[in-house]
Amino acid sequence: MRWRNTPARYGAVSRVLHWAIALAFVAQIPLGFLTQATADQPALQFQLYQWHKSMGFLVLSLAAIRALWSFANPRPRDAAGPHRAGAMLARTAHAVLLLLTLAVPLTGWAIASTSPLQIPSFAFDLVLVPNLPMDVSDAAEAFWSNIHVWLAYGAGALVVIHASAAAYHAFRPHAGSLHGMLPQRRVQAR
Ligand code: HEM
Ligand code: HEM
Repeated sequence: MRWRNTPARYGAVSRVLHWAIALAFVAQIPLGFLTQATADQPALQFQLYQWHKSMGFLVLSLAAIRALWSFANPRPRDAAGPHRAGAMLARTAHAVLLLLTLAVPLTGWAIASTSPLQIPSFAFDLVLVPNLPMDVSDAAEAFWSNIHVWLAYGAGALVVIHASAAAYHAFRPHAGSLHGMLPQRRVQAR
């Protein structure tokens, strides 16, 4: 098994990080929505918030590791094969997605840190995550909440485009880029 990326494909570390982050990030969108839809059930809402914050901190940690790993590894050949414009688009989309997996949880952390309620964040009931050193006020909380929500739903839209592009390239004859993100055996079996 190759741990590191090669110029032809993603290594095991990149693949595991990609799918773990993808799963957790996508799950966070309905979970975040539910924290707002359950305002009339405060006990349930509190539990959902704790899960949402915990999963968000997990995404943030994995995304930080992934960002470092991607700097220390070669980038496999472009997804869009021979098409330069497509390759540029894919590269830009990947960079933006990578930034969003950092920025969305960071802005969520900013909401929790600036909220006058000052509810402690216990990641998975295990680790007390300190608040960011920010001024506490209703206005600051509302500001970060707005940014968080826009970035989160914007990221959701970009993920739909990204996954559709991956599916499209996987079923084209020239070279399925999805192969670069799947385990080696599945690729050789084809
Ligand atoms: C992968 C990371 C995350 C994603 C994709 C995400 C996504 C979302 C979404 C979609 C909402 C619902 C907004 C709405 O419909 O009004 C939301 C709300 C919220 N999230 Fe996150 N979130 C993430 C991480 C975090 C983290 C790490 C925290 C805090 C430590 C956090 C705190 C909150 C809070 C406090 C709200 C309620 C905002 C409000 O007042 O409207 N989120 N999030
Ligand atoms: C069903 C969902 C998804 C599919 C099918 C998918 C598929 C892929 C594929 C095939 C690649 C490699 C493209 C290439 O060869 O250049 C890739 C790369 C990438 N994907 Fe996804 N993806 C999905 C979800 C996500 C999500 C939810 C995120 C982030 C929020 C994400 C972020 C990235 C990033 C940043 C890269 C660049 C390589 C890396 O740093 O890992 N993907 N994806």
